[in-house]
Amino acid sequence: HGLLGEVWNEDMSSSMLGSRMKKVVQNYQAMNKYGVKVSGPGGISGRPKLSGPELLCQLKEKVEVTTLTSDLQPFSVLPWASQLPLKQLTSDLGPYRSCAVVSSAGSLRNSGLGKEIDSHDAVLRFNAALTSGFEKDVGSKTTIRLVNSQVMASDDNHFLSSSLYSSGVLVAWDPAPFSSDLTQWYNRTDYPIFTQYQRYRRLHPQQPFYILHPRFEWQVWQRIQDNMAEPIQKNPPSSGFLGTVLMMSLCEVVHVYEFLPSRRKTELCHYYQRFYDAACTLGAYHPLLYEKNLVKRMNQGSNREIYISGRVTLPGFSTINC
Ligand code: C5P
Repeated sequence: HGLLGEVWNEDMSSSMLGSRMKKVVQNYQAMNKYGVKVSGPGGISGRPKLSGPELLCQLKEKVEVTTLTSDLQPFSVLPWASQLPLKQLTSDLGPYRSCAVVSSAGSLRNSGLGKEIDSHDAVLRFNAALTSGFEKDVGSKTTIRLVNSQVMASDDNHFLSSSLYSSGVLVAWDPAPFSSDLTQWYNRTDYPIFTQYQRYRRLHPQQPFYILHPRFEWQVWQRIQDNMAEPIQKNPPSSGFLGTVLMMSLCEVVHVYEFLPSRRKTELCHYYQRFYDAACTLGAYHPLLYEKNLVKRMNQGSNREIYISGRVTLPGFSTINC
């Protein structure tokens, strides 16, 4: 054990997990709930591993951050279409200079990162991550909140009434069929994202609220799979990675906090809840393990910054030359 402890190993694979976690991950890897079609053999065996800068260029070129707009079919003909934004999120928001993406990891506890996080021009938070009572560690600024459809629909989150969701810009997503066929998705969303969206918009008509196009989640998924040597879970990426890519399209530089665990690494799932599960950090349903491998490869900061602050530094897409 050197002076600098271990940080995330970018060649992490499911075979390196403990036996319980390995089983959980392998179970999910055997499912295909969303009808994912893998092109080619799956994995990169044979092909050379891309460098960090090459990976960044792939993400920039092959992923489009798109959101639903009121003129988009099949939504445009529905009576509530006018509740959707007129324009894309990326044309309404930013560009920002420096941004923070705050994972909800338990390792944020006692980090003292609050001031640093709030010093960024825009801060992205996830789901039910609250700041009240945790300002010292996570700050208090929320520019954008990315929520999944499960959080929007679950009774204990009080999505429609809780003040947690009523500041900043909301962005929602739902695990959609791989085909990205919008009608198919509309008729069988994972959770009732559209009914909750309509209710929320009626209650908070002034708050900007976007819905991610399902193509986005699967384009990001494809980047992860194409750059891994083994088949990954056939489920959408975690909110954490989707939010990171979203911010890379809005900001000149993106700092992600405690996505790659620092020396405070813990099985505590979220900094705001007393619930322990290693799957929160290593992934079970989501291909989180592989997302972390890619983020480690793209990091432009030092391992020391990961170890001390749990901080990763990624360039915004507008600043990279491909
Ligand atoms: O659990 P939730 O999805 O709300 O957390 C937000 C994101 O933070 C996750 O999608 C994941 O990317 C990241 N996270 C993590 N480790 C944890 C908890 C969350 O990497 N222990």
